Amino acid sequence: MCGIVGAVSERDVQGILLEGLRRLEYRGYDSAGMAVINGGPHAQRARELGKVSALAEAVEANPLNGHLGIAHTRWATHGEPSQLNAHPHMSGDGLAIVHNGIIENYQELRDELKADGFEFTSQTDTEVVAHLIQKNYREQGSLYDAVKSAIPRLRGAYALAVVHADEPDHLVVCREGSPLVIGVGIGENFIASDQLALLPVTDRFMFLEEGDIADIRKDRIEIHDREGTPVERETNRFEHGADSAEKGEYRHFMLKEIYEQPKVIKATMEGRVTDSRVLEQALGTEAANLLDNVRHVQIIACGTSYHAGMVARYWIEELAGVPCSVEVASEFRYRKHVIQPDTLFLCISQSGETADTLAALRQAKKAGFRAALAICNVPGSSLVRESDLVIMTQAGPEIGVASTKAFTTQLTALLIFTLALARHNGLSAEREADIVSALHQVPGQVSDILALNGGIEEMSRAFMDKFHSLFLGRGSQFPVAMEGALKLKEISYIHAEAYPAGELKHGPLALVDSEMPVVTVAPNNDLVEKLKSNLEEVRARGGELFVFADKSAGVKAEEGVHVMQLPPVHEITAPIVYTVPLQLLSYHVAVLKGTDVDQPRNLAKSVTVE
Ligand code: G6P
Repeated sequence: MCGIVGAVSERDVQGILLEGLRRLEYRGYDSAGMAVINGGPHAQRARELGKVSALAEAVEANPLNGHLGIAHTRWATHGEPSQLNAHPHMSGDGLAIVHNGIIENYQELRDELKADGFEFTSQTDTEVVAHLIQKNYREQGSLYDAVKSAIPRLRGAYALAVVHADEPDHLVVCREGSPLVIGVGIGENFIASDQLALLPVTDRFMFLEEGDIADIRKDRIEIHDREGTPVERETNRFEHGADSAEKGEYRHFMLKEIYEQPKVIKATMEGRVTDSRVLEQALGTEAANLLDNVRHVQIIACGTSYHAGMVARYWIEELAGVPCSVEVASEFRYRKHVIQPDTLFLCISQSGETADTLAALRQAKKAGFRAALAICNVPGSSLVRESDLVIMTQAGPEIGVASTKAFTTQLTALLIFTLALARHNGLSAEREADIVSALHQVPGQVSDILALNGGIEEMSRAFMDKFHSLFLGRGSQFPVAMEGALKLKEISYIHAEAYPAGELKHGPLALVDSEMPVVTVAPNNDLVEKLKSNLEEVRARGGELFVFADKSAGVKAEEGVHVMQLPPVHEITAPIVYTVPLQLLSYHVAVLKGTDVDQPRNLAKSVTVE
């Protein structure tokens, strides 16, 4: 949600902090701030409402010089977006703190600290932590000890970074439930909520574990675990190029990420499939044994990742004949379940840090599932570390808040997993070879769809002045329609609903008129004739149709029916390919409407709070 960055160095840190915030802005963008220590008795602070660019202007006019600093870009939870609620929060003139997450018992702590004479200037839960640490500092005289003794008082999820003007050579950080990574430099060190923030300054990272507290100096990093034992955390190199978090020639990250799909889908297949079969060893040494014993699959995810799970259910039941349930994590975690014996728990998450997904996983680990498999895009994330088996998608950093390449690589990984599971459940070698060969064609087919960009942009004009829209699909294309609707609402703010086409006459048909565009995905499968009847139902009510159809499906353009002819695609891989035109459609509608495509209002890329 919020983004945190910090640095301790020989050089001035303002530029490092600002660049870090720019790169973290996808995590939250309602206000931003930084605090820098320069050896004087006070921490210097700047905070601005709005985007990081507003803060950049402020500190360019009045620079904050110093070798130690912390910074933050906010996604409001407690207290409206405002300058007073922006981080860093301070206690006294010297202590400054940035925080990502939620402190659940903040009211109780606030009352207690008020009674101790602390004055509050914001509505945030974070300011409570600032005063709590300050109170400890006055008693203990050491920032590290003050943070350490504050931790047991905090309930909730947090990643914190704290500095004090009286201790100008280090910062203290800790995490519980929100991500925090240390960037290892030479004669300088950094922290951030995401390694992307630090790519201009280092490519070596250490991921803190839950409950860790770390003391970070320019030439030394000391970490203690929850029990207070000194621990070493492995240093990993960032595998993708440093420019993977740059927009390059593209106008928006989202467009760049849409265009990267042929490459990253291929990368997700690499080493996992031959010409004709899936290499199940590539799923881990334990995979064969596990797949032999799985009798049911429970998929959990949020947002776009949930839609990937919904597509996978069609595949898993059709190809492997294994029953599969899919549920959004925020629902799953708060209800009782009947767990079938030998159920595999499968979490899908781009970030690997989504609070609800992690909470569901943690519950599941106690609840008697056979094992936990993660499909994830971020190495070293909490989800990856806490799962038994992991299939990494190779999408590379995804910056646009609306997920695109993460989704199609999740589908690729899910299909590979499904084929491996299906082989243990009687899938013939011929059928496997047929689907693997279809999978090899997907990158090329996605490139063919990207070549239709101009036509899709043209189509998007019809949506400019609309307030509502309907997306229809059947079978495994229903989740594709859901994902299409989600994309449109996320970035263009047009209300979009997805329905299984067969449900049209059970309600949504009442809404259809000339002001309600209806978008449909129609590969040439055995449901296409039924889908065509649904389209007739829409036309008969004056609805305008936008159909993405297989060339051979026989859907004809006519007045009120706009058809984008797509190349023939294998029925199983069609959900991957048919997603792409819907991404482009939403993108162009948003650009025409002039919305903030990469950072849509009220949303954040990684939802690390409940
Ligand atoms: C947020 C993002 C979505 C994403 C969802 C789940 O809502 O804006 O794009 O699909 O979180 O995130 P995850 O990282 O778990 O896939």
